Amino acid sequence: MSKHTILVTGGAGFIGSHVVDAFIQKGHDVIVVDDLSSGNSDYVHEAAVFYEMDVRSPQLESVFEAHKPDVISHHAAQIDVRKSVEDPVYDADVNIRGALNLLEMSVKYGVRKFVFASTGGAIYGSPASLPADENCVPKPESPYGTSKLCVEQYIHLYNRIHKINFTILRYPNVYGPRQSAHGEAGVCSIFAGLMLAGKTPVLYGKGDAFRDYVFVDDIAHANVLALNKAPGETINLGSGVGITVKQLYEIIKKLTGFSGKAVLKPLRPGEVKGIYITGERAAKMLGWKPSVSLEEGLRRTVAFVREQQMSATCGEE
Ligand SMILES: NC(=O)c1ccc[n+]([C@@H]2O[C@H](COP(=O)([O-])OP(=O)(O)OC[C@H]3O[C@@H](n4cnc5c(N)ncnc54)[C@H](O)[C@@H]3O)[C@@H](O)[C@H]2O)c1
Repeated sequence: MSKHTILVTGGAGFIGSHVVDAFIQKGHDVIVVDDLSSGNSDYVHEAAVFYEMDVRSPQLESVFEAHKPDVISHHAAQIDVRKSVEDPVYDADVNIRGALNLLEMSVKYGVRKFVFASTGGAIYGSPASLPADENCVPKPESPYGTSKLCVEQYIHLYNRIHKINFTILRYPNVYGPRQSAHGEAGVCSIFAGLMLAGKTPVLYGKGDAFRDYVFVDDIAHANVLALNKAPGETINLGSGVGITVKQLYEIIKKLTGFSGKAVLKPLRPGEVKGIYITGERAAKMLGWKPSVSLEEGLRRTVAFVREQQMSATCGEE
């Protein structure tokens, strides 16, 4: 396997930091650009070169100049669906303008491959038939899903005009250690955090909303496979299985020993009622299949959140 120099944007974030770990484990050189707006520099692997920088910044060119990456793994984004509804201009600015800055630099510095972290959860809307495969026509129901779709279109355009090679990976609901338990996204960590603290979780969509959940290590593995496979492809990284919020709640309840009750509330603006996506093209094109079961992945997630809460408590003493 050839060695790559890979620029991972958002590499201090939840998924990006696991992707960085997986690339380094395979012997690649990794550069991280992250503005730490939601990321954590402690999560950046010590073997990676780290730049605290906004992907929209003109300074980005100095990173390309210094390292001449041959692969871009674009994970930096405004990821919050609700925030995108409240402030679509900010969402578009980070997600679309940030990606364009990277694409421009990629052309100028002869990048070999552009891998984009897109979304299967927010791009398809509410399709009539599930699981959604890649032929399902995207109909986003939020500015976030729309900005992701727009970036996909720009990538296709840059491929047509500038011959940039790419793979678009459409993620399902990704969960696991390092996902924020305090943010608005990341229901598994949020539930684990609340239940471990004996606080009441809220089940939006009255518990009936459903998604597919894939453990973050499996997503990182798909990113490794995409380095040298599936040129020009758009690929769902789905489990093909829909899990309701209520089902998720029950598993986490058992793992945390939570004895309280949840509150049921309707969906919030921009949230789709239910979506799950296929993994068949991923199996064919990448040789990828999720390998961590939901129970095992949630056990690891709860263990991480528990450890975080314990060290926060120790810090207060
Ligand atoms: N978590 C999921 O379930 C999921 C699902 C579908 C797609 N995705 C995509 O995967 C990617 C990573 O998501 P995540 O869940 O790890 O979120 P995250 O918030 O943990 O990671 C995003 C990272 O990008 C950084 N960032 C944000 N704006 C930036 C900017 N302007 N310049 C530089 N860095 C910036 C943040 O500091 C953070 O470290 C995103 O592109 C997201 O849209 C995630």
